Amino acid sequence: MKSTIGYRLSEIEQEAIAIFYPWIFKGFQCFKPETGHELAITSLLLGLCGGHKPWQDDPVLRVNAMGLSFPNPVGIAAGFDKNALVISPLARLGFGAVEVGTVTPRPQIGNPKPRLFRLIEDGAIINRMGFNNDGINRIVARLERMRASKGSLKTTANIPVGVNIGINKVGADPEKDYPFLVGKVQDYADYIVLNLSSPNTPGLRDLQHPSRLRGILAAIKDQYPHHPPLLVKLAPDLEDKEVEGIVETVIDAGVTGLILTNTTITRSDDLQGAFRYEPGGLSGRPVRQKSTEMLARVARLSKNQLTLIGCGGIETGADVIDKIMHGADFTQVYSALIYEGPGLVRRIKKEIVEILNREGIQNIVQLKGVAL
Ligand SMILES: Cc1cc2nc3c(=O)[nH]c(=O)nc-3n(C[C@H](O)[C@H](O)[C@H](O)COP(=O)(O)O)c2cc1C
Repeated sequence: MKSTIGYRLSEIEQEAIAIFYPWIFKGFQCFKPETGHELAITSLLLGLCGGHKPWQDDPVLRVNAMGLSFPNPVGIAAGFDKNALVISPLARLGFGAVEVGTVTPRPQIGNPKPRLFRLIEDGAIINRMGFNNDGINRIVARLERMRASKGSLKTTANIPVGVNIGINKVGADPEKDYPFLVGKVQDYADYIVLNLSSPNTPGLRDLQHPSRLRGILAAIKDQYPHHPPLLVKLAPDLEDKEVEGIVETVIDAGVTGLILTNTTITRSDDLQGAFRYEPGGLSGRPVRQKSTEMLARVARLSKNQLTLIGCGGIETGADVIDKIMHGADFTQVYSALIYEGPGLVRRIKKEIVEILNREGIQNIVQLKGVAL
């Protein structure tokens, strides 16, 4: 079958790519990491992405959260499709949701290269991309075109689409910029995420502090009271006391949920990769436990008053189940996709279904919070 842009792979071809990805990845390693990312986006744009239909997922994987239905609990985290270029191809890889962005008010080129590093021995990535993106107007125009051609964004991708928003490095005014961005995307997003946690925009993480957060949330509510579900994405490096204040603030402000977590600025002693001391945010395997601990802490504090998305270090079906058992409604993955390639989501879903069937569990939702 042909996609609107190019060739779409048959099941057998997809299978072949999944099997040969370790060699393809070795080939990608000849390129700088960012070139590898650009090649991945181009391949997806060309339609080299499979023809998975999300709603054919096993019903045991189905999840409802924030008033939205997800065919499975594994979404692609923000930062992969920063410019909303490959929403439908990512859906056809089998993800249960796509989050685009981070999008800022004005376009920006991000930090100087190199700014993306593979720590292969650690199953990790360090990035200091610095919100390189096309800016809100171009991205909204792209979302609008998608919607115009298919009736709605959701029918285009067939799964929920979130838009992750942030501020520019220079000339930002967070109390004005976040409401402005919410106003721009509210007609196109199934949910909106305030990114207050990337370590690569100076001062951004200070906005997690309740005194700043409260002002930003109040300004959004004041100007756009009927916005779609709103989530806040947090860093894994917050102190327990800070987390308590944030949870209280977001519940008071009527926020729908939290994403736990973004990348970490800490570096444990056991990291092996040659680039381990590069400045930036560390993601992948080394952040898994830290993120899950924070998820569990937030789940205990919020007592089912928030939707929680678990993100950080997911590589297997068991990792997804672990996040859900520690309070997540839904999960997201990024770094493992870089290492494993397009077969990742299918493998993770297969593993979840096997575990659930083995344990006689009817739906993954039954496991929510059982480890707390
Ligand atoms: C190269 C790269 C770029 C990222 N860019 C963003 C971003 O723009 N906005 C954001 O909220 N998170 C961004 N993230 C963080 C991821 O969304 C995710 O929270 C983090 O990587 C932890 O998940 P993982 O361990 O599965 O990668 C980025 C991560 C990577 C590796």
